[in-house]
Amino acid sequence: MQRVYNFSAGPSMLPLPVLEKAQKELVCYGETGMSVMEMSHRSKPFEEIIFGAEELLRELMGIDDNYEVLFLQGGASTQFAAIPLNFFKNKKADYVITGQWAKKASQEAARYGEVNIVASSADKTFNYIPDLDKSKFSKDADYFYITYNNTIYGTRYTSVPDTGDVPLIADISSNIMSEVMDVSKFAMLYAGAQKNIGPAGLTVCIIRKDLLGHASDICPTMLNYEIHAKNRSLYNTPPAYSIYISKLVYEWIKEMGGVSEIQKLNEEKAGLLYDFLDNSSLFKGTVVAKDRSLMNIPFVTDSEEINAKFIKEATANGFVNLKGHRTVGGMRASIYNAMPVEGVKKLVEFMKKFETENK
Ligand SMILES: Cc1ncc(COP(=O)(O)O)c(C=O)c1O
Repeated sequence: MQRVYNFSAGPSMLPLPVLEKAQKELVCYGETGMSVMEMSHRSKPFEEIIFGAEELLRELMGIDDNYEVLFLQGGASTQFAAIPLNFFKNKKADYVITGQWAKKASQEAARYGEVNIVASSADKTFNYIPDLDKSKFSKDADYFYITYNNTIYGTRYTSVPDTGDVPLIADISSNIMSEVMDVSKFAMLYAGAQKNIGPAGLTVCIIRKDLLGHASDICPTMLNYEIHAKNRSLYNTPPAYSIYISKLVYEWIKEMGGVSEIQKLNEEKAGLLYDFLDNSSLFKGTVVAKDRSLMNIPFVTDSEEINAKFIKEATANGFVNLKGHRTVGGMRASIYNAMPVEGVKKLVEFMKKFETENK
């Protein structure tokens, strides 16, 4: 069977060279005579994988030595609880609600302390990033929390909020390594792997070292970032195979010229689709232009019937997983790093043809 263009929001496409390399090494990794899946996480070959992955990630994202890089389990959603459990001292945090993931994170934090909602874009189904009024920030907040790219609604921050001395934490699950980010502006960045860097099961957490050491008494050992940091993500069995695949993805990104080159390709891909949507008489984007995501592009027609027909015909033509999230409706094309420019060009061609036939 031929591979399709997979526009899934996650888990999503991985680069073909990564899958092919993994296929080659699946049964015997290097000279070990075994699969990475069968390998002790305390073995030398696996140490080379996990420490090599960390080194590459640090290099590609420009992560300084004053940050820990952790490879954890539990998905991004586990961090919604781990963050307050590790960082609450005054038991107070500021959250910006730009969609369901930020809302879920804030609800989890509210179980352990006071949550101040600084701003929200719920009034317009989260189709924009709200302006931030500094007078609403809490000076004694333990941290300030944002979701940098909103997978469901297709918005993203285009500048980093200035939170002064209050540590800034961002969920970058759907935009990690898709654009250059200045890590030093954040106290913590974290991402579930299953969109841009590998299979589900791995969560990457990048945490400034001075934040560690204040976990609350009720913080479970497995959620305690300091414990994972002290053990270099080997406190218990880490998501070994997902870490291995993510290392192959980092190697691929490096070969592609690094994150800045990947960003150029992502801008080209998103530009192709947004240009088409802006000029189409059938389709339109749902997001305020200035806040549009490079990764997730929701769009609609005026008719539910046409939306359904489009999704059906697109699927039959090898453009799959284009159905929008149920809270937005219509369609959504997720075009993460692994989606080739050619995939977006072909999708746009297909949309043009569909438009002509369905006017
Ligand atoms: C921005 C964002 N945060 C968090 C999550 C939840 O991730 P997980 O399923 O790894 O818990 C998702 C999942 O799609 C997401 O897009």
